[in-house]
Amino acid sequence: MRIDVVSIFPEYLEPLNLSLVGKARARGQLDVHLHQLRDWTHDVHHTVDDSPYGGGPGMVMKPEPWGEALDSVLDEGSAALGDPGAVPTLVVPTPSGAPFTQELAQRLADRPWLAFAPARYEGIDRRVIEYAAERMPVEEVSIGDYVLAGGEVAVLVIVEAVARLLPGVLGNAESHRDDSFAPGAMADLLEGPVYTKPAEWRGRTVPEVLLSGNHGLIARWRRGRAFARTLTNRPDLVGRWRPEAMDKHDRKALDELGVTLGEDGRFRPSAVDVEE
Ligand code: ADE
Repeated sequence: MRIDVVSIFPEYLEPLNLSLVGKARARGQLDVHLHQLRDWTHDVHHTVDDSPYGGGPGMVMKPEPWGEALDSVLDEGSAALGDPGAVPTLVVPTPSGAPFTQELAQRLADRPWLAFAPARYEGIDRRVIEYAAERMPVEEVSIGDYVLAGGEVAVLVIVEAVARLLPGVLGNAESHRDDSFAPGAMADLLEGPVYTKPAEWRGRTVPEVLLSGNHGLIARWRRGRAFARTLTNRPDLVGRWRPEAMDKHDRKALDELGVTLGEDGRFRPSAVDVEE
């Protein structure tokens, strides 16, 4: 996968040299190109922002440098990919975007080329997004209901979530399977607690079942813990659990946790708190 990031703080993206993403780059699985937006300014001050039309606080990123940057990324990337018709999917991090989810991470991981346009200040002149959308798919994405000082941290978050889904990047492909939010059996369930050696630490022991070697029992226990943790930390997900995905062991575990199935076919948490 090729990734281009245009930013006024490309240094902010240095962590992309580290850990999982850094290794994927070193192995050639990820081809990351960082660009300084100010390289596409033409005044002595390398100005990238101006005051908003209509008034209001803060500054808005000017369209001209972004337009030139996107044209250049498009030309350079399509030439490098050897396909003049190739376009990236442009990801624009913004608190006004659609929520970043595991499903979106997977959709982005299926694309061969991503470009990122992280903004500072109050955002980028809207016409840049409209111009880009006529040439390439554009995803405006929010990583959560809070406001960052700029989109660079969101780029780090999105690239890391996407990179670990690329074929061959994680050592063990099975590692995805039990992820919180993974599709399939674990959809809409948070992953439960995990333990490693030693079996006793500071007087605390590992749950007996994990030492039993009984894989069926262990899977059932893990699912029970996942139900409990989801109930505690994300009760909003409980209504999304599908009755047809629950076997008799699940039903019993849910019953013990006070989860009931409503007339509408949706599960509901109990009114009382659950011990995780
Ligand atoms: N830029 C500022 N806040 C953001 C957020 N929550 N998500 C994505 N980009 C942002």
